[in-house]
Amino acid sequence: MKHLTFLITAGPTQEPLDPVRFLSNYSSGKMGYALANAALKKKYSVILIHGPTALTPPPQAKTIEVQTALEMRRQVQKYFSEADIIIKVAAVADYRPHKIFRQKIKKNTNTLTLTLIKNPDILFELGKKKKRHQTLVGFAAETTHILKHARKKLRQKNCDWIVANDVSNKALGFGSDQNKVIMLSSQNDAIYLDGTKKKIAKKIIDILVKERR
Ligand code: CTP
Repeated sequence: MKHLTFLITAGPTQEPLDPVRFLSNYSSGKMGYALANAALKKKYSVILIHGPTALTPPPQAKTIEVQTALEMRRQVQKYFSEADIIIKVAAVADYRPHKIFRQKIKKNTNTLTLTLIKNPDILFELGKKKKRHQTLVGFAAETTHILKHARKKLRQKNCDWIVANDVSNKALGFGSDQNKVIMLSSQNDAIYLDGTKKKIAKKIIDILVKERR
């Protein structure tokens, strides 16, 4: 069995607005941690770069905690060349507040308008610089036209695989222990996986490793 290093990103990012507030999303980190555990169980090396979560990171992984999308990007770029398989499960905030207020924003007005600026798309950047030996896997959180949107992301971000999930179903996806995903490859495979995140994670790792042989 060839030794492999996985780089896995997990959880949400938090984008600070003032000393007491941030913008974020509902990502729990469970899917990313399940993938890290599944890879570790097979004795692969894992670098886990994660946003704030309530989960305990696996001690055998090299774990790096970040808060913002920009911090995640910096750490991902630092470790990217060491990785054979990169799985970007993290729900990276697409926008961050244009300005971080030094003092708490007071409720002096009836409406408040915030200006947000786009964060860099980390997966897109990796897609441009990935090497032939590297497998790049994205996740796609969708609420409508799942396959259509996921295929577009697969192409645009130059991934080898996109794992698409429907996050509109409260019983699945964000926060849940269950998931239902479709793995789409750049070679036009479509693999449907259903069950606990642990079970799905094991299958995803098996498929990614098998494909490299
Ligand atoms: N991603 C990323 N950097 C971002 C946004 C997303 O690396 N700034 C990655 C995610 O980690 C995931 C993939 O891109 O692997 C798809 O993320 P998703 O939130 O589903 O889609 P977006 O590209 O953000 O597009 P949209 O929000 O318009 O659906």
